[in-house]
Amino acid sequence: MAEIYPGLETLEKTHDESRQGEALSISSEKKSKNNGKFLYVESYGCAMNFSDSEIIASILVEEGFSVTKNFNEADLLLINTCSIRDKAEEKIRMRISELKAVKIKKPEALIGIMGCMAERLKAQLLEEEKVVDLVVGPDAYRELPALVRSAEDGSKAINVLLSREETYADINPVRLNSNGITAFISIMRGCDNMCSFCVVPFTRGRERSRDAYSIVREAQELFNAGYREVTLLGQNVDSYKWSSEETNESVSFAQLLERVALVNPLLRVRFSTSHPKDITDEVLHTIKKYHNICKYIHLPVQSGSSRVLELMNRTYNREWYMERVDAIRRIIPECSISADIISGFCTETEEDHQQTLSMMDYVRYVMAYMFAYSERPGTLAARQLKDDVAPEIKSRRLQEIVDLQHVHQAEENKSEPGNIYEVLVEGTSKRSKEQLFGRSSQNKVLIFPKGNLKPGDYVNVRVLSATSATLIGEVVN
Ligand code: 5AD
Ligand code: SF4
Repeated sequence: MAEIYPGLETLEKTHDESRQGEALSISSEKKSKNNGKFLYVESYGCAMNFSDSEIIASILVEEGFSVTKNFNEADLLLINTCSIRDKAEEKIRMRISELKAVKIKKPEALIGIMGCMAERLKAQLLEEEKVVDLVVGPDAYRELPALVRSAEDGSKAINVLLSREETYADINPVRLNSNGITAFISIMRGCDNMCSFCVVPFTRGRERSRDAYSIVREAQELFNAGYREVTLLGQNVDSYKWSSEETNESVSFAQLLERVALVNPLLRVRFSTSHPKDITDEVLHTIKKYHNICKYIHLPVQSGSSRVLELMNRTYNREWYMERVDAIRRIIPECSISADIISGFCTETEEDHQQTLSMMDYVRYVMAYMFAYSERPGTLAARQLKDDVAPEIKSRRLQEIVDLQHVHQAEENKSEPGNIYEVLVEGTSKRSKEQLFGRSSQNKVLIFPKGNLKPGDYVNVRVLSATSATLIGEVVN
């Protein structure tokens, strides 16, 4: 899933790995008690993990912990992990061994592994990583206070039970590492799609949708607190479906989008991730109808070959995907589209690969996350198909995909000067204090002179020039 993905700097990125390993700081918190202990949380992987870390922090702040950005002063160090590819797990293993140093200086400090790796490896993780005290899966965060207490008493603690109901709907996330302007709202959990390459259905369990009223309430509260953009998160937001047991009313994703858009016209709404099999014209018309719903769709294609898509169990083919792209172009011409692409899936031939490249030519993605296929234990592909594309062929094909994506982005950038975008100001540019940065509805990053503007303002910016990841512009009235 998801979303907020600047740049193309690496070949091995999940949705949000650019933010990987960031320590989290607290922006606003209501604390009921103080136990004098410090919590440090580090998140890896997709936006959903970053959002879950805010739920984890909320649960532990209630328990009296204060959040710190400095792991050396922490009493509890939690790593929220990602299992999507082998490399993601390797990186986290390295990080676990780095954090050992903290325990040498402060033996009573506890280290906990949260999220997908916890769920995938379960007790094995406690055996393999002796420094780890806690292993907690994505649906067991409410148990954290009890698990921490038990670890404090010296026993290793584990809970990796998956749930069919847990959505943490009532938990008010502590906004971590927040710019005060943009925030995630988790609208569903789990995934029922069973794409054959993907470990997520095993690590995050069955799909369930969160109470629509709690989502709208959270969006309203964020707006009242000064936030101006929310990203609705789920593995497959288009299959969001919530029904009230009391009133029998049923809310689809299109209806949810509309309800959130109506919170306030000044609150931008983004969402991620869409699934090509489920994105309906109704959703597209809703995006079109509301100015504050961003004209940007992350629509993972994975492969351009119908044969490979079938083996991937994506349940759409090349023609279906192209038709959905045509529908987006027809209904929302100003919409930009990005994707996830996998090279070298089982049995992929040169011809299949060429079809992926030609799909890229057809859509001209504004951005793509591109990966070499990494077999994950327990998935349908690992059980039923042979990982038979040689690593050097996977890498060569991946490089061709990356190169083509760069060509498309460079061409797009050439046509940018002169365009005017409405930009939501997010903060000060890294390059200069005199410059601000923000994003357009299409998720393009723009940099422009500060003037009297401040984060949270909307401003029209005319593009003057473009670098590979950023547009440089001037403010226009
Ligand atoms: N190998 C490579 N990429 C994968 N993804 C998911 N599983 C794998 C895997 N086993 C990619 C898909 C997905 C994104 C989040 O990660 O492109 O959309
Ligand atoms: Fe994995 Fe497919 Fe679900 Fe995405 S939709 S999380 S790729 S199984």
